[in-house]
Amino acid sequence: MWCFFVRSFIVSLVMVWSVVAELSFVATAEREGKMVDMSSLEFVPMPPMRHRRHGPPSQPSDDFPSDDFPSDLVDPRHKGRRNDGGGSNSNDGYNPNPISYSGNWCGASQHVNSSDQISNAFAYFTTPDLKLRDGMSAPQFAAAWVGIDGASCRSVLLQAGVTTVVNSNGGQSAWAWWEWYPEAAYSISGLPVKPGDWMSVNITASSPKSGKIIIANLQRGYSVTLSISNGPALCRVDAEWIVEDFYDGGGQVPFASFSDVWFEETSLTTDRGRKMGLDGAAIVYLQNTTGAVTCSAAQYDRSNFVVWSR
Ligand SMILES: *[C@@H]1O[C@H](CO)[C@@H](O)[C@H](O)[C@H]1NC(C)=O
Ligand SMILES: *[C@@H]1O[C@H](CO)[C@@H](O)[C@H](O)[C@H]1NC(C)=O
Ligand SMILES: *[C@@H]1O[C@H](CO)[C@@H](O)[C@H](O)[C@H]1NC(C)=O
Repeated sequence: MWCFFVRSFIVSLVMVWSVVAELSFVATAEREGKMVDMSSLEFVPMPPMRHRRHGPPSQPSDDFPSDDFPSDLVDPRHKGRRNDGGGSNSNDGYNPNPISYSGNWCGASQHVNSSDQISNAFAYFTTPDLKLRDGMSAPQFAAAWVGIDGASCRSVLLQAGVTTVVNSNGGQSAWAWWEWYPEAAYSISGLPVKPGDWMSVNITASSPKSGKIIIANLQRGYSVTLSISNGPALCRVDAEWIVEDFYDGGGQVPFASFSDVWFEETSLTTDRGRKMGLDGAAIVYLQNTTGAVTCSAAQYDRSNFVVWSR
């Protein structure tokens, strides 16, 4: 249990956590480009969220949704760039991406050849803005994150992102977190996040066991940088940009409805400096245990895509 491993922390401009399993991290925080007092920043250990990819719970049915790009979904920043008026999920002549199904993930997953491993994964994305899904109990949740591994290298996943919860009265709250599954998971309580906020997550893993995460709230001017050592060894063969119906200690959480979540300027970089976006990436739809597809995604262009709730 992770909670017994917390050995020490030092409060100063730089905070250091270390755990018996040797995973340790150093954090710094900035606001509007200036270092901030780390006493305002708290890392609260959480139970691992089991964010690894799970396969679809059942075989796809015949009435699977088409992967048409929904014509009503246009990010304001893209207005004027789309030219297809719907009917195609790629407006720049790229082949549609392969679609795969997951019981908990929705978004995009890019695989690389292990002869040239992933050293960085990046995206800008919006914090899920939730509405209660009819017929399900509250509270309901959705998480959005960027990660390395977790798809084909199933035993480990280095990731950071945000989770939003909506209560039975419609009230929402959101928080940022990072996790090096299966080891540490921490919420970052000093990094303010509200539903709809634009975030960026930049994860560097230049070796299998050490990583650097920069998570920023672009709208509120905050960023937190973590340098992590001695994590569980990564394969560095998949990068993901995901909205998730995650698992907590009690099982899979009720998945809320949400406004479109855009992932922009998605990229991965490899050890040899190759940079890839979404070309050839798997687009992942979420199919819940009763067989309903509750979330779809579509590529907009080589580095931008949208995830929407169904
Ligand atoms: C991976 O890269 C190696 C060396 O470049 C090559 O021999 C191999 O065919 C590649 N594998 C795949 C699946 O592309
Ligand atoms: C991500 O962070 C690394 C340094 O840790 C930096 O070199 C790189 O430019 C950053 N990527 C983006 C897209 O900001
Ligand atoms: C699956 O999604 C459908 C459609 O939203 C919903 O009615 C059903 O309750 C969901 N099932 C589970 C187990 O979440």
